[in-house]
Amino acid sequence: MNSQERASFGSKLGIVLATAGSAVGLGNVWRFPYMTGENGGAVFIAIYIGCVLLLGIPCMVSEFIIGRHSQSNTARAYRKMGGTGWGLVGYMSVLTGFLITGYYAVVSGWCLQYVWASMCGELSGDSAAIADYFQTFSTHPWRPLLWLAAIMLLTFVVVAGGVRRGIERASKLLMPILFLLLLIIVVASCLLPGAGAGVEFLLKPDFGHLSRGVFLSALGQSFYSLSLAMGCVCTYASYFSRDTDLGKSAIQIGIIDSLVAIMAGLMIFPAAFSVGVNPDSGPSLIFITLPNVFQQAFHAMPAVGYVVAIMFYGLLSLAALTSLISLVEVSTAFCHEELHITRSRATLLVISAASLIGVFCSLSLGGVDGLSIWGKSLFDAFDFVTGQVFLPIAGFLTCIFIGWSVPSNIVRDEFTNGGKLRGTYFATYLFLVRYVCPICILLIFLNQLNVI
Ligand code: PHE
Repeated sequence: MNSQERASFGSKLGIVLATAGSAVGLGNVWRFPYMTGENGGAVFIAIYIGCVLLLGIPCMVSEFIIGRHSQSNTARAYRKMGGTGWGLVGYMSVLTGFLITGYYAVVSGWCLQYVWASMCGELSGDSAAIADYFQTFSTHPWRPLLWLAAIMLLTFVVVAGGVRRGIERASKLLMPILFLLLLIIVVASCLLPGAGAGVEFLLKPDFGHLSRGVFLSALGQSFYSLSLAMGCVCTYASYFSRDTDLGKSAIQIGIIDSLVAIMAGLMIFPAAFSVGVNPDSGPSLIFITLPNVFQQAFHAMPAVGYVVAIMFYGLLSLAALTSLISLVEVSTAFCHEELHITRSRATLLVISAASLIGVFCSLSLGGVDGLSIWGKSLFDAFDFVTGQVFLPIAGFLTCIFIGWSVPSNIVRDEFTNGGKLRGTYFATYLFLVRYVCPICILLIFLNQLNVI
């Protein structure tokens, strides 16, 4: 397929919003605020921003270069630029993206169900009742599957619609709504009595927590949050135009993603502190702690609490949906180009296969016994293998590939759009990708495996 007939994004805004849509996801809301609160507030935010700037953005630019240079799906992109051996890294990224899709879709489905539940006023009662609601719902044999089907259907409609008419249009519509909802909830949360303590907890620099672990968590979080090493960034970049400034786009996306993460903190902590609840992370934060927090925080104005809860789950569903779209696009582009089938067929195939994984992940949480590997539920096992094993390996190899294997004139050409841009930061970029990024990624990986 030559580049003439290949799909592409239609505008710079579309490029930034679609890629930011992939980046802004559950990771921004359920992990970042908690990690910030636990790891020293403003100090963690500063380290996190350092990681995004020095490591996340260079890695994103590297994936952009691979995708845009080869104008192909991720597997073929690595193969085209580096031969069969490097092609394996591309296959690995596609596989990681695919495996995570089913698991991510299950949680995305939960978000949708919670929009519904908050609309019907089902998330009420004391904290035990809310915890019980989540437990009963998430382990129910078929209810989560209905919501899984619903979110997959939405994703199908967007991805099958094509790059410009589906993904770009959806991102341009959904991302502004997401920002607006976020802003409204931040304001509502910060206006609560006693909210100042939450803002202080989040933003007060506390150097006492500084440790190696803090750096490594910030690093891991920045990679996950920017959707790196799963083929998403590389696949989207294959639809970028030749005059897209890759460095500038990566910086814009990094800024949007970090801002959303910080605002998510400003949405959660002030409300939680105003009612004296200490926030958790992960599923229990958004599905157990927060419904309870909203209910208590706005008890004097139940109508506001009702609307805030609906908006919050609406926001989560949007954030999850735009990330899911990018995940499905990775394998869709792969099937479309490698199996030579139409885009809609490819989307259908990917969605069906990923839904099947989703069904097993969902059932492994309690619906059916015995769905476990290495003593973990399938759900946790997928999370572990994709996020903690494949992601760092693919990220590391991508840096080595771009930094050491691809001829640097090709890299420079992409970085400067064939010499049209000045490329002032090219030397810095190359230095980071050659030395700093691989070493740091290796450190996170070894730390995760408890080797160091
Ligand atoms: N970046 C997304 C988040 O913050 C997660 C994600 C990772 C999405 C990789 C797509 C690919 O939740």
